[in-house]
Amino acid sequence: MTTERTKSHNPGPVLDITGLEVHYGLGRRRRRALHGVSLSVEPGETIGVIGETGSGKSTLARALLGLVPSSAGSIRIAGEDVTAYRNRQWRALRRRGVIQYVFQDPLRSLDPDLTIEDSLTEPLLVQGVPRQEATARARSFLDRVRLSADLLDRLPGELSGGQRQRVAVARALVTEPRLVILDEPVSALDSANRVQILEILKELRAEGVALVFISHDLGSIAGTADRIAVLYQGELVEVGAARDVITSPRHVYTRLLVSSAPTLRGSPVGRAEREALRALLNA
Ligand SMILES: Nc1ncnc2c1ncn2[C@@H]1O[C@H](COP(=O)(O)OP(=O)(O)OP(=O)(O)O)[C@@H](O)[C@H]1O
Ligand SMILES: [Mg+2]
Repeated sequence: MTTERTKSHNPGPVLDITGLEVHYGLGRRRRRALHGVSLSVEPGETIGVIGETGSGKSTLARALLGLVPSSAGSIRIAGEDVTAYRNRQWRALRRRGVIQYVFQDPLRSLDPDLTIEDSLTEPLLVQGVPRQEATARARSFLDRVRLSADLLDRLPGELSGGQRQRVAVARALVTEPRLVILDEPVSALDSANRVQILEILKELRAEGVALVFISHDLGSIAGTADRIAVLYQGELVEVGAARDVITSPRHVYTRLLVSSAPTLRGSPVGRAEREALRALLNA
């Protein structure tokens, strides 16, 4: 009884990864993409993951969705140890809607042959939600992402990039997931769409959905994340409260990132240091 109550009050991290390793390729072509990555995400927390191109950000996203296998370490999602899951079990987990995802290219998050209505209702129908209710939920989530219900009978190819990405966000939300992995969700968008999606992400955070928000752009992450994790060459070199990482970055790479973000205020790194850091990293 007490245990049950404690559990519901303190459900533990929604995501907990320890010592995660991911390799690509076989034999002599085998290369390490993630090394010893440990990160824990509390319910409702937004973690920004930042890193340069090739640092392993998308690999991390794929590993958390069971789309690439890990070679060591452990992954727990909502208390469930998924480390040894096979494809079938990952598919079932994704279907249950506990964890959802949004990719940079919405055409990869959406089935191009399904109308927007079908894309939004499908995850609910799979869960056994009656069609009428699924359609009502689809409409309400379309509204959540500031889109008109007129779009329901269109195909993804008949929408603008910004509209498509908002549909992808709505699709990720219809199952009311506890955790959403977003891999560069705003990178392909113009600034007006970017601002709107970032606003929607902030609302989600306020509603208690945990987000892993991956971006190469510190400016996008800075105003959204509670904590920031910095990936550098497959390793997490720094994790801390967003404000601390931005105002007093520790790792050389983080200092360079902070100093290079044009829209960021309060950067402690000046131009001369930036050049010195660059030289250090390239050495
Ligand atoms: N399918 C694959 N097969 C082999 N190597 C891969 C594969 N996908 C990625 N890699 C390699 O793994 C490393 C990490 O790639 P990843 O896509 O995770 O980087 P990223 O941080 O998402 O970069 P970007 O900012 O460009 O999206 C890179 O060196 C990349 O070349
Ligand atoms: Mg990527």
